[in-house]
Amino acid sequence: MLNPRPATPTHACRARVLRFDNHQPIWEDDGALVFGTDATGQARLLEVGSAPAVLGQYPLLPVAHWPDRIVAPGFVDLHIHYPQTDIIGSPAEGLLPWLEHYTFPAETRFADAAHAAATAEFFLDELLRNGVTTALTFCTSHPASVEAFFQAARQRQMRMMGGKVMQDRHSPDGVRDQTEQSLLDTKALLQRWHGQDRLGYAITPRFAPTSSDAQLRGAAELAARYPDTWIQSHLAENRDEVRWVAELFPLSRSYLGVYEDFGLLRQRAIYAHCIHLDTTDRQRMKACHTAAAVSPTSNLFLGSGFFDFAQADAIGMGYGLASDVGGGTSFSPFRTMLAAYFAGREGQTKQGVSLLPSQLWYRHTAGAAAALGLEGSIGNLQPGCEADCIVLNPQATPLLARRTAQADSLEELLFAMIVLGDDRLVERVMVNGQWLPG
Ligand code: GUN
Ligand code: ZN
Repeated sequence: MLNPRPATPTHACRARVLRFDNHQPIWEDDGALVFGTDATGQARLLEVGSAPAVLGQYPLLPVAHWPDRIVAPGFVDLHIHYPQTDIIGSPAEGLLPWLEHYTFPAETRFADAAHAAATAEFFLDELLRNGVTTALTFCTSHPASVEAFFQAARQRQMRMMGGKVMQDRHSPDGVRDQTEQSLLDTKALLQRWHGQDRLGYAITPRFAPTSSDAQLRGAAELAARYPDTWIQSHLAENRDEVRWVAELFPLSRSYLGVYEDFGLLRQRAIYAHCIHLDTTDRQRMKACHTAAAVSPTSNLFLGSGFFDFAQADAIGMGYGLASDVGGGTSFSPFRTMLAAYFAGREGQTKQGVSLLPSQLWYRHTAGAAAALGLEGSIGNLQPGCEADCIVLNPQATPLLARRTAQADSLEELLFAMIVLGDDRLVERVMVNGQWLPG
């Protein structure tokens, strides 16, 4: 047998470095990262640590030196809808009228492959401009929307997950699909795209009210047959929605119970919002290794409510941060982390907590990766991780420069960037070992 090819270092950079060990941040004021390829040719981070110790071992390696910049993991967005890029900032009384008046009409257009392709290209570029290198993404009910998404993501060599929305009832013409065909389409798309390059398929029933029993059952059968695919849906976002689900599924213990009864709770299942849950729901999510995608800009924009961070932490259920564009109002992880801080502080409907900046950051990087079952692969800068990272310029604006210069601790520095940062902070992005053209 041939010996496996050894890992090959190709280039390095030297800067301030942020990464995570479990939930805890690790910081190097003068750090270095060595990138290269592994035995299979996959681009990876081969080594990380203090610059003198790391670079001493690689005297001939080209090194980019950015002493005042911060290299951090690419952000992971745990829940986003690429076809809703064009309806960001569409106001409505609440979730259900927003879906009816803006979302479904906009999604109808994704039957058109050219429209889907143009939007997917824009969407992925916008994610990258904002430092997001992985996202778990809704497409629409049209298979063409999924093809467009995966083709554009493959071209960019991104680690991306997505899937065809399944919605065979309580949905208007133009987005409603047909039960049997939706299952055939899902299976065909899954077989075509899951595991291709860095892509993964997510089985995507929109939410319980828009799927028949047969569609939910079929989705769960596919999820059981292909256990390393993802499942994504919405859960307990809005009080009117929760009431509707209770009417439609009177035999289930709760909204979460509907998904559990159909067999849709498992590892790699991610439910967006998870606001109106009880303790049993949270315990069931933890027991099933099912995670929440917390989407605070969306929840504030649509008036849905506030995720209960204290309860989630007390029970130890998994969760990560998400933009939920276009209910969410920004592609920027900085805006999402700040909104999560505000939502955590809210203390009228639940216990108010003051989340640490490093924990907000963790939940949008390594914590979100852990929710996806991809810890050790993405969302971190530990040796062996895939080579997706960002370079932040804390002097990007006059106010950022002034404030970050006075930060006395890592938490203060991270907080200043969370509060004041946006896409201007993101100076460079590396995807799969390559720095993108600036
Ligand atoms: N629930 C069902 N569909 C959607 C959607 O597109 N966005 C949000 N925020 N919630 C939903
Ligand atoms: Zn959503």
